[in-house]
Amino acid sequence: MIRLLFIGDIVGRPGRELIRRGLGALREYHQADLVIANVENAAAGFGITREIGEELLDHGLDVMTSGNHIWDRKEAIDYIGIEPRLLRPANFPAAVPGNGSYLARTAAGVSVGVINIMGRVFMTSIDDPFAVVLKEIEALKVRARVIFVDFHAEATSEKVAMGWHLDGRVTAMVGTHTHVQTADDRVLPRGTAFLTDVGMTGPHDSIIGVQIELALNRFLTGMPSRFETAEGNPRLNAVIVEADEESGRALDIERLSYSQEELADLANV
Ligand SMILES: [Fe+2]
Ligand SMILES: [Fe+2]
Repeated sequence: MIRLLFIGDIVGRPGRELIRRGLGALREYHQADLVIANVENAAAGFGITREIGEELLDHGLDVMTSGNHIWDRKEAIDYIGIEPRLLRPANFPAAVPGNGSYLARTAAGVSVGVINIMGRVFMTSIDDPFAVVLKEIEALKVRARVIFVDFHAEATSEKVAMGWHLDGRVTAMVGTHTHVQTADDRVLPRGTAFLTDVGMTGPHDSIIGVQIELALNRFLTGMPSRFETAEGNPRLNAVIVEADEESGRALDIERLSYSQEELADLANV
């Protein structure tokens, strides 16, 4: 049995603080063998820097996925070239720096393939994620039976479609990007754990991570405004997937949502 912990989009300093203070206890409590997190919003809501990436790896992340915000900080282009544990969606055109998959290994020596793809509905129209993901699975499956997919996408329909597309082909597919956790966690009939969106690890008294007045004002006026990361009510959103490492089939998926205080309490359980 293997247990994979996936943490939804880490947003700014409040998100990073949840990881710094809470990941040790969370990992221990759920006996996670591998921790994956989406880090596309880790640098003040926009992108990732080398300093922040290294800090998050130090706090215990094993693999970092991303999405549409991956290039917001220019230095991510260099960082992704030297850090194979940082992924960008695999369906970016072939010449784009970085990789869309990574072969991780747990402390017990189990190989786990991690794939990051991005949707095309209401997003930048990049290569076909449905075709690209099959190629990535093909390349990984000679070396890993357990494969985890982060599908970074806006439309619920596209994410649900990908779940059925991948059922029986991977251990788990979870969605990211909307920053709001959905309640449809389940294991699909052929053994793939699925959740439409994991939600966000960051300030929840916000509009998907952004200060309420700033994002609300855009809706009220239609005028542009600079977005700043909010601070209030930090929560960590995640899923834990339990799988059989011999077959790669998922046995269970559970969605998680912890406040700062609840995470602190885990350390005392
Ligand atoms: Fe995000
Ligand atoms: Fe995103």
